[in-house]
Amino acid sequence: MNKKVMSIAAMVAGFGPSAYSLADSQHDEAIERGQAHYLLFCANCHGVDADGNGPLVELLKVTPTNLTTLRSSGSEATVAERVLQAVDGRHAVGESAERKMPVFSDNLEISTVIEIAAYLDSIQK
Ligand code: HEC
Repeated sequence: MNKKVMSIAAMVAGFGPSAYSLADSQHDEAIERGQAHYLLFCANCHGVDADGNGPLVELLKVTPTNLTTLRSSGSEATVAERVLQAVDGRHAVGESAERKMPVFSDNLEISTVIEIAAYLDSIQK
């Protein structure tokens, strides 16, 4: 994994449960903003509940990933790493599959992506 993603992922990890005692309210605010960004940029495909069933699904050739099971899907990458790589178009997909998700990283501030990752991390099943 590239260094930039690793250090950003470490920053996102800082939002995780271990940082709760330090900045509970800041963490909650980041998750709230992340949810708002998510609904704006991601929910059309991945669904309001992030279950991969958004309103645009019928128009897509590839089914969007269920983003509530990223942690339990067997990948060693953290939720934040998966999100950061996906918006950057560098995520791994199945052997014959292509990367179908649009690349967002040129258009979204990294802080926005980090907040989306914090939100998605908070809704893992
Ligand atoms: C135009 C539809 C579309 C939008 C909008 C979209 N995605 Fe996706 N996304 C997909 C599709 C299709 C896949 C499955 C194919 C692939 O992995 O490229 C996917 C896969 C993913 C994955 C799984 C990557 C992995 O590791 O397997 C993540 C994480 C993800 N998207 C996050 C996001 C986030 C965060 C946003 C909003 C910033 C977003 N997506 C917006 C269509 C979309």
